[in-house]
Amino acid sequence: MSTVTLTFENAIAFITINNPPINATSHSVREGLVNALDQIDANNDIRAAILICEGKTFIAGADVSEFGQPPKAPILPDVIKRLEAATKPVIAAIHGHALGGGLEVALGCHYRIADSAAKLGLPEVNLGLIPGAGGTIRLPRLVSISEAVSMITSGKPISANKANAIGLLDAIAHGALRDAARDFAQTILDRETPIPLVDRDPVNTPNATEWDDITASAKKKARGQTAPLAAISAIRTGIEQGADTGLAFEREKFIKLRDSEQSKALRHIFFAERSVAKLPELKGIKPNPIRHVGVIGGGIMGAGIATASLLAGYAVTIIERDEDACANGRATVEKHLSGSLKRGLINQDRFDALMAALSTSIDYAALADADLVVEAVFEDMAVKHDVFGKLSKHCKPNAVLASNTSYLDINEIAANCVNPNRVIGLHFFSPAHIMKLLEVVRTETADAKSLVTAFEFARALGKIAVPCGVCDGFIGNRIMSAYRKHCEYMLEDGALPHQIDAAMVEFGFPMGLFAMQDMAGLEISWATRKRLAPFRNPSERYVALGDYLCEMGRFGKKNGLGWYRYDENGKAQPDPEVDALVIAESEKKGITRRDFTHAEIMNVILGAMRDVGDKILSEGIATNAEAIDVVMVNGYGFPRHKGGPMFMTSSSN
Ligand code: NAI
Repeated sequence: MSTVTLTFENAIAFITINNPPINATSHSVREGLVNALDQIDANNDIRAAILICEGKTFIAGADVSEFGQPPKAPILPDVIKRLEAATKPVIAAIHGHALGGGLEVALGCHYRIADSAAKLGLPEVNLGLIPGAGGTIRLPRLVSISEAVSMITSGKPISANKANAIGLLDAIAHGALRDAARDFAQTILDRETPIPLVDRDPVNTPNATEWDDITASAKKKARGQTAPLAAISAIRTGIEQGADTGLAFEREKFIKLRDSEQSKALRHIFFAERSVAKLPELKGIKPNPIRHVGVIGGGIMGAGIATASLLAGYAVTIIERDEDACANGRATVEKHLSGSLKRGLINQDRFDALMAALSTSIDYAALADADLVVEAVFEDMAVKHDVFGKLSKHCKPNAVLASNTSYLDINEIAANCVNPNRVIGLHFFSPAHIMKLLEVVRTETADAKSLVTAFEFARALGKIAVPCGVCDGFIGNRIMSAYRKHCEYMLEDGALPHQIDAAMVEFGFPMGLFAMQDMAGLEISWATRKRLAPFRNPSERYVALGDYLCEMGRFGKKNGLGWYRYDENGKAQPDPEVDALVIAESEKKGITRRDFTHAEIMNVILGAMRDVGDKILSEGIATNAEAIDVVMVNGYGFPRHKGGPMFMTSSSN
């Protein structure tokens, strides 16, 4: 069946695209559009055309199967030019998403009308690209420069209401989109066809100083990414040198970026995130239905997990040790949801309904009908055994029982349970209701049904679920422990904490390792180190600097002193006292300190990541190298545009 059909209703033509799942701008669509426009031009009875899509969405992007292939005419920029040259006005009728090339097609139309739930955006920067079919040239001729820059450099889609407010839409459809578009078409039949956007003046024209500000602010946000800045230069060229020069410039930049390392890295991680949870051995197995979720422990993690589960539409019961702890857990969930309410993500009715779906109890019998339970109590094996013993007793036999442990052996937890085949790990990241990453840990005993149910749960929570096997720290914490150790060695060998952090920030991490430790608090890992001290291999190099800080009462940002000293605004300042402590430790151990360049520091860190990554792969803990990259990018601040430690190594080989 053809992907583009043309039908007529009196003086109005309907061009309908049907190219599931996202009505991508595949070759057949591009060709179909040009044919339809030729027919409309040739038909004297037709006075306007409506471009509308079947299925869930308007055109929501390009056809990924055409990536990497030589472009086949008609290419999208030419299709859009053809749209602009149409002798009858064309109205884009948008529902679902108009993204990337989809929005560029809509910009080639003479009018745009959208369903009130539609979203419109130019997300190319997320793949290291800029719009390549006129988006940077046409958008600023319809909306202000600041709105155009914001949409193009952030890549974030905007709502139909916002699009309407800034001038991107001509109308919002109330009722059925097709009817609203037809009604709209009737109102413009007698008007002259508007001149194409490329022939119009920009909405506003910044002066040189304003351009400098726009560029400086984008540069700060881009943190090393090239595409947002390339987008600004394309927008500026289109404004200062005219649309034709701008279009040529945009296309040239687009092609250059498409072949860049950054774009390859971003595309790698984009596809890895979408494929990482798809395990062939689980294909076709149906998950158990989930209605009621239990969370054991209403602390930092438990309350976050409860919040995420409520937002996914589940009834949630938190089990705590006593009534006070129950009240605390409830209050934390309420605080999280109030945050969503304040930011307009949920309304008051939804907030009330979510709070009503939350219950707390000190009695495990409240979990009799729970379908899935996540344990998030203290990181202590004896406590975990006690909890899973109670869950074995009170939960129904097929309820999935998950531990959120950071480091403990979930195989051992499972072995002590009735039905160990339904015990798995669900390792969330803090804050659990915000962080996208979730490690789904398969124990030796876990059955396929429990795993599939866990993946379905993760999907409902909007998480990126990465399957992994049981080992100390799973994928992410195991890699972090390894590179932290090497960073500590570098301190003794000659680097200072703020130098290591500066190298990491320059590389693209949002913050360095030591600033991150200060933020998390130093005393928790100190307690763990003290607990594990008797089991430490005495022949292994041990760096005691973190212990000294805690002994000095420096617990991190919350008490103003840690690896850094925090000023009254909470800003980290390198502390000469810490530098002296570090240098004295080298002397004590008889180590001659040497200078480290930023490149050397990053080589050590990346090398440590890659070595453990290789081990994790060879042990079968991660399904593939992509899984490791997805974890490091989504849980540990590894710069997305570098693709992850495994991608970097493979692409430089
Ligand atoms: P937390 O100390 O904030 O919360 C633990 C909660 O469990 C407390 O509210 C406590 O009252 C409750 N609790 C303890 N024993 C209990 C029992 N027998 N029955 C019912 N409730 C009990 O600890 P946090 O940070 O939430 O950590 C919980 C688990 O999550 C640990 O295993 C930790 O390793 C893991 N985790 C922590 C992360 C973090 O960033 N804090 C990240 C990922 C995992």
